[in-house]
Amino acid sequence: MHSLSVLHSFGFGYSAANLLSIDSVASIHQVFSTIKNQHFIVLGAGSNSVFVEDYAGTLVKIDLQGIEYTDSVDYHQVSVAAGENWHKFVCWCLHRDIRGLENLALIPGTVGAAPIQNIGAYGAEVAEFIARVEYFDLKDMRLKCLDVEQCQFTYRNSIFKSKWGQQLIITSVVFRIPKAWNANTKYGELAELVAPSAQDIFERVIAVRRKKLPDPELVGNAGSFFKNPVVSSSHGEKLKQAWPELPQYPATPGKVKLSAAWMIDKLGFKGKTLGGITCHAQQALVLTNDGSGTGPQLLTLAREIRQSVQSEFGVWLENEVRLIGEHGVIEL
Ligand code: EPU
Repeated sequence: MHSLSVLHSFGFGYSAANLLSIDSVASIHQVFSTIKNQHFIVLGAGSNSVFVEDYAGTLVKIDLQGIEYTDSVDYHQVSVAAGENWHKFVCWCLHRDIRGLENLALIPGTVGAAPIQNIGAYGAEVAEFIARVEYFDLKDMRLKCLDVEQCQFTYRNSIFKSKWGQQLIITSVVFRIPKAWNANTKYGELAELVAPSAQDIFERVIAVRRKKLPDPELVGNAGSFFKNPVVSSSHGEKLKQAWPELPQYPATPGKVKLSAAWMIDKLGFKGKTLGGITCHAQQALVLTNDGSGTGPQLLTLAREIRQSVQSEFGVWLENEVRLIGEHGVIEL
């Protein structure tokens, strides 16, 4: 048995039956010949996965390391192994004057996990910088790759979240970052920066994150627990009549994205506690574990929030975090 408390940032002290590590393509073969047809979960840094009870299968931890750089006249091209830490990679780029990823500073997790949910923050999404994703196909045990268009990136989503995506191991992500750089200050708290450098944006993003989001090293959490819901523009219009202050952002044509944090906050959940689980006092979209929380408490509070949002706003929230029960991924 392997304790999960240090393997996922929510910090519940459940255990997993088996743990195997992948640190080379050769070890993928070894690991999957050991696992055969048993259940497995692929895990990076565990910063977006919450184990809500003991897990009966095998955890496959991705520890692939390495960064390779090439360039062309207009682009930096960086191939990064899936197990590299995301924030360290952002710093690696800035130290080499490769600018563009600074809005995505301090996001917990690994590089290999970044394309799965198309990590995004402060006006940027990782998909904007990806050329292709390299993966090992577990069906025929071969290395393959998908170009960015094939990854089907949308808000917090990609082909890697589909059923097809469960039968592969992302081995590396190849980034294509334009050498011509423009400051991305679309996000409210960055807009006030005057002629910022990439380093200024990096520092401001870190300051904003530290102010609003709990540090997973100190307080168990997995970032935003829910996604911001995307609804039809007509539903958005109705909500605007009733709740003019509810933030709405443009989404795909005919749709708008609503602020889940605002709705949860409005319903009075901010700071609310159930056992060891709290709806974070600085950001209502984040649920935290004070170290004494349990999986059932988390599920109960999250379902109560989802139900209240549904009753008041007619919007069904989806969890952004991956919830894992005894036999694998579960629905909220
Ligand atoms: N708001 C409230 N109450 C709160 C928090 C926010 O009313 O408790 C309002 C704010 O006033 C603001 C709006 O809600 O108008 C949006 O808040 P914020 O800018 O903090 O962003 P978010 O939509 O709640 C998303 C991402 C975060 C990312 C931030 C910044 C999702 C699910 N979450 O949060 O990502 O850091 O934008 O870009 O899209 C994560 O995925 O784990 C994560 C932290």
